Amino acid sequence: MERLDKFLCGAGAGTRSQVKLLLKAGRVTVDGAVEKDGSRKVDPAAVEIALDGQTLGGMRRAVVMLNKPAGFITATEDDSQATVMELLPPQWKHLDLKPVGRLDKDTEGLLLFTNDGELLHRLITPKKEVRKVYYARHEGWAGEEDVRAFAQGLTLGDGTRCLPARLEPLGPGESLVTVCEGKYHQVRRMLASRGMPVTYLERRQEGALTLGNLPRGQARELTGGEIQALEAGEDAGGGENDW
Ligand code: URA
Repeated sequence: MERLDKFLCGAGAGTRSQVKLLLKAGRVTVDGAVEKDGSRKVDPAAVEIALDGQTLGGMRRAVVMLNKPAGFITATEDDSQATVMELLPPQWKHLDLKPVGRLDKDTEGLLLFTNDGELLHRLITPKKEVRKVYYARHEGWAGEEDVRAFAQGLTLGDGTRCLPARLEPLGPGESLVTVCEGKYHQVRRMLASRGMPVTYLERRQEGALTLGNLPRGQARELTGGEIQALEAGEDAGGGENDW
């Protein structure tokens, strides 16, 4: 947080005395509302500060984690259905965040957003092998044959080839699935192809990131360290290609 007048000087709006006059004249807005008090403490990363309607300061890079509830589609806008964008706090609107990959409407859990196009690309390209871990409830019981089939790389009913993946049966009708790509309805289709239709799906981990104790429906910004780990492609556990 810093004083509004100090931010304005730093952003090149003018000298201290010029800034004072700009504020007095009502030419400065914070999140669209005129602000005349230069001593007001602002977080330029969290609010939009404008002079004569022009936003000041470059947009900083942001990466956000959402614990997505069921019932929201992964899209930036839609005419009829609720989108994940509606779950982000309004003060992040100016950050122009975009979802990284997608979760189905009924899938819950970890969904990332960023305004960094390069990072977005890096995270969704299968070559980089950002591992995503899903908890699935499904019909049937996964066995050794299924584990082997996942490890070898499944071919789905329509001929789609999947990269090797890890299936860890947790008990009757419950498994963890780890994949490093994001094909349409991938985990649901993989389990269905082995006769285990999914009844519930939650993404719990992406690279080194886990949901932690982030409540369902809530979002938080990643720390600098978390972003670095994500960029470096660090995993929370597991070794090299140990499917
Ligand atoms: N796989 C799916 O089938 N659905 C998701 O939402 C994510 C992965």
